Amino acid sequence: MAKVTRRTFLGGAAATAAGVAAGPWVLRAHAQSGPVKIGVVLPYTGVYAVLGESITQAMELVFARENWTVAGRKIEMIKEDDEMKPPVGIRKTEKLIDSDKVDILTGPVHSGILMGMRDKVHSSKTILIVSNAGADAISRERCSKWIFRTSFSNWQPNQPMGGWVAKNVSKEVFLTAPNYQAGKDMMEAFKETFVPAGGKVVAEDYPKLGETDYAPYLTKIRQSGAKAVYCFFSGTDAVNFVKQYDQFGLKQTTKLTGAGFLTEPDVLPAQGRSALGVITGHFYTPVLDNPTNQRFVKEFREKFGNKMPDGFACQGYDTAETIVRALKAVNGNTQDKEKLVAVLEKTEFDSPRGRFRFDPKSHNVIQPFIYIREVKEVAGGLNNVPIDKVADVRDPGTGCALPA
Ligand code: PHB
Repeated sequence: MAKVTRRTFLGGAAATAAGVAAGPWVLRAHAQSGPVKIGVVLPYTGVYAVLGESITQAMELVFARENWTVAGRKIEMIKEDDEMKPPVGIRKTEKLIDSDKVDILTGPVHSGILMGMRDKVHSSKTILIVSNAGADAISRERCSKWIFRTSFSNWQPNQPMGGWVAKNVSKEVFLTAPNYQAGKDMMEAFKETFVPAGGKVVAEDYPKLGETDYAPYLTKIRQSGAKAVYCFFSGTDAVNFVKQYDQFGLKQTTKLTGAGFLTEPDVLPAQGRSALGVITGHFYTPVLDNPTNQRFVKEFREKFGNKMPDGFACQGYDTAETIVRALKAVNGNTQDKEKLVAVLEKTEFDSPRGRFRFDPKSHNVIQPFIYIREVKEVAGGLNNVPIDKVADVRDPGTGCALPA
């Protein structure tokens, strides 16, 4: 065995840390030939199961394009169902980090699960690419240098909508969303521009996540006399709310508006014509006519039985694309986490949503546009058609500009 003195060992380690070519033995010692393990914490059961499925499918589409090999290393996805339960999500995160020793972690969908995972991820210096959960705090006071978000902060699709609804729909609005962090974040973001534009929140109400009977809430909406509703619901909650809203006869009297998740293609087929005319704000719609999106929609539909990609699929695509580009930039070396962070901060590419880049101050994606979209009948069925847009929407968070 070659004799390695303390001096040469330290010298080699320092040279490697500084990214300096340091002789063949150091390179050999650091060569990584095993698979890149990507831990995936997503809901595959429960209210948001369809979201987890869309994100996973689009990630697989991108990795398949690379033949599941990047910079000479196989890509291995280790998928864990968080069952939409924070304690389960946290347990699965610990398992992926401590037992599987994943190189990169992605997920989750649920803001509460992200908040629960945050300290474990931060203290273990695990790179987490958030592929949905929008908890604003992760771009702000709970920012971590190891956490990036390819999806959105809860603030992003909602803040531009407040002023827009006040100007174009109504100044008397009822707010409703599931009673947990994402619902609260989104309604607060809406108010930020709605109230200064002269809007009045007639009332607000927060049913439990996973509610199936919205009748008591719809009764309150009718009694409030509000001219419009602004809401956030997603997954099976979005299906139930939109259908029951229509069955209750509210559609004719009270304009339904909300965050884009309400009428994404994951739920539109189940909502059917009840969703027609609903106005929402989102960073994506599959009808965008940029070439990357056109190719994505075509390939996704071919691979997944003609399924229309939704915003969640776009997030999965961008998560996988970000990982592929970062791995190529570090030549497959996932051990130097500082280097990976530096590379991730500079990641930029054409996404189905437009030009993708992170804000280095928050590690959160800058949305090229938030589209105001209306559900219309177009070729191929119902879809979200842009009727207006707001450019360059970045979360106000600066949490990652602070020292770690
Ligand atoms: C969240 O919990 O952050 C969340 C969940 C579902 C969505 C959007 C945000 O559609």
